[in-house]
Amino acid sequence: MDAVHDDDRALVERWAAGLTGRVVDAGCGPGHWTDFLARRGLDAEGVDLAEPFLERARAEYPAVPFRRASLADLGVPDGSLGGVLAWYSLIHSPPEAVDGTGVDAVLAELARAVAPGGGLLLGFCRGPRVEPFDHAVTTAWFWPVDELAARVERAGFDVVETAERTDPGVRPHGAISARRRAAGPA
Ligand SMILES: C[S@@+](CC[C@H](N)C(=O)[O-])C[C@H]1O[C@@H](n2cnc3c(N)ncnc32)[C@H](O)[C@@H]1O
Repeated sequence: MDAVHDDDRALVERWAAGLTGRVVDAGCGPGHWTDFLARRGLDAEGVDLAEPFLERARAEYPAVPFRRASLADLGVPDGSLGGVLAWYSLIHSPPEAVDGTGVDAVLAELARAVAPGGGLLLGFCRGPRVEPFDHAVTTAWFWPVDELAARVERAGFDVVETAERTDPGVRPHGAISARRRAAGPA
């Protein structure tokens, strides 16, 4: 967490303060955000597909639950979550549909899992157009904030806040906070 920007810490903290119920850190990686959420009193669970990350997370944060699951299949009942944090994890989902693992399929899964009024918070690499780049984990995509926000809205969320930041030496940052709409996908 020492490497996390103060603005991101504040955004996640503010977002978490408005949530109730179980919260999934989807694509949790080494688990620092899951622990951050748990320390704020949330019933937080980290999920990821990469076992090495999960092993590291369990070793570092033994009191926090971590489970192997895909963003495209969280393995939770419909409407059972108070929120999903997908911080720099949705970036690895292709913009077009690929075997049910594209961005729209993932957002549909998050919309299925989150209760009406529940929260979604995305952190991502911002760019002027949707385009792939080589990322240390696996291929990722840059997204313009408005294009990703439109996908989020289409999946059944209302966007409530966006953030952008450009810091020297790192990829431009974007964030989208949204609430699950009661009426389902637009
Ligand atoms: C760049 S890391 C971000 C990790 C952490 N959220 C953070 O902010 O440091 C992306 C993580 O998303 C996970 N991930 C990517 N696609 C996924 C998918 N479809 N299902 C589950 N996890 C996924 C990767 O294994 C990796 O741990």
